[in-house]
Amino acid sequence: MTNDSAAELRRLVNGHQVSQAIHVAATLGLADLLADGPRTSDELAEPTGSDADALYRLMRALATIGIFREEEGRCFALAPLGEPLRSDASESLAGWAVFAGRPYYREAWSALEHSVRTGENAFNHVHGTNVWDYRAERPQESAIFDRAMQALTGQSNRALLDAYDFGRFGIVVDVGGGNGTLLAAVLAEVPAMRGVVFDQPHVVEGIAPVLEAAGVADRCRVVGGSFFEAVPEGGDAYVLKSIIHDWEDEEAVAILRVVRRAGGVVLLVERELGPPNENPAAKFSDLNMLVAAGGRERTLDEYGALFESAGYRLAGSTPTAAGMTVIEGERV
Ligand SMILES: C[S@@+](CC[C@H](N)C(=O)[O-])C[C@H]1O[C@@H](n2cnc3c(N)ncnc32)[C@H](O)[C@@H]1O
Repeated sequence: MTNDSAAELRRLVNGHQVSQAIHVAATLGLADLLADGPRTSDELAEPTGSDADALYRLMRALATIGIFREEEGRCFALAPLGEPLRSDASESLAGWAVFAGRPYYREAWSALEHSVRTGENAFNHVHGTNVWDYRAERPQESAIFDRAMQALTGQSNRALLDAYDFGRFGIVVDVGGGNGTLLAAVLAEVPAMRGVVFDQPHVVEGIAPVLEAAGVADRCRVVGGSFFEAVPEGGDAYVLKSIIHDWEDEEAVAILRVVRRAGGVVLLVERELGPPNENPAAKFSDLNMLVAAGGRERTLDEYGALFESAGYRLAGSTPTAAGMTVIEGERV
């Protein structure tokens, strides 16, 4: 091993320090507080409820990796890498950064070794329940997670709309649609379309502001329920973005069978695993599924096999520039 590889490895090993520091900066809302120009860490201590010296130490560390820029007198400006931490950034990542360091989620990641040794889901091992039931009982964590998904989906929406033509559908149902970020963008793009966002009752409660901000509330119904029981009928297309990867094959097929009963084509929006040695986003998302949700990322062939078990055939796949693929299934 060269000195360079040892240094690079050390940087990767310590990656959790960087991740947690960014998480705290996002939780304190530092990027928003710097939106109008540089401020000292002493000034920021009061509005963020922080210890002035510890806040300085956080910000100077983050300045070394390009999140902030440190100037004279403990003064900090937002640097280009920190811009997407602003809540009003066009593709804000603030929601994801706030979620990624939550203690209950980190605790699950701390049990990765358990998952690797046993094949079991770490979250269930640590918390004795699955992520969805855990959050359903904790409204704050549920809202933080929904905002995190809003951030990720907001980042991939444009690429999805550029790659895939939703215009041929009159009614689209977004199954497990979270707080409506994807369907709001699709409806805004296709003015003749109507839509339904379907998710767990406590999740869809928070949807109205997203639909109103996109100007599509009058064309979108919101329905709460479980996709293991029934989904709204009458859709021409059923979109499931980042849903099937949350589940192992048995549950994934059960969800698809319920969706099939409702009619229409099914459009999965997922990350394909890709060839060996490539696509770290998908391969680490797969580990995240092992640890947190209890599912897995898959190859296109594996999605095809799920389709076959659920009564669909793989009708096509459309890659997008954001690394997600639209995987289309037709009822057989
Ligand atoms: C990874 S998130 C994806 C959200 C959204 N599709 C997106 O990509 O932004 C998974 C979604 O599945 C929903 N979900 C989990 N279990 C569900 C169930 N039994 N019925 C309906 N929705 C469920 C969650 O509430 C969550 O919004």
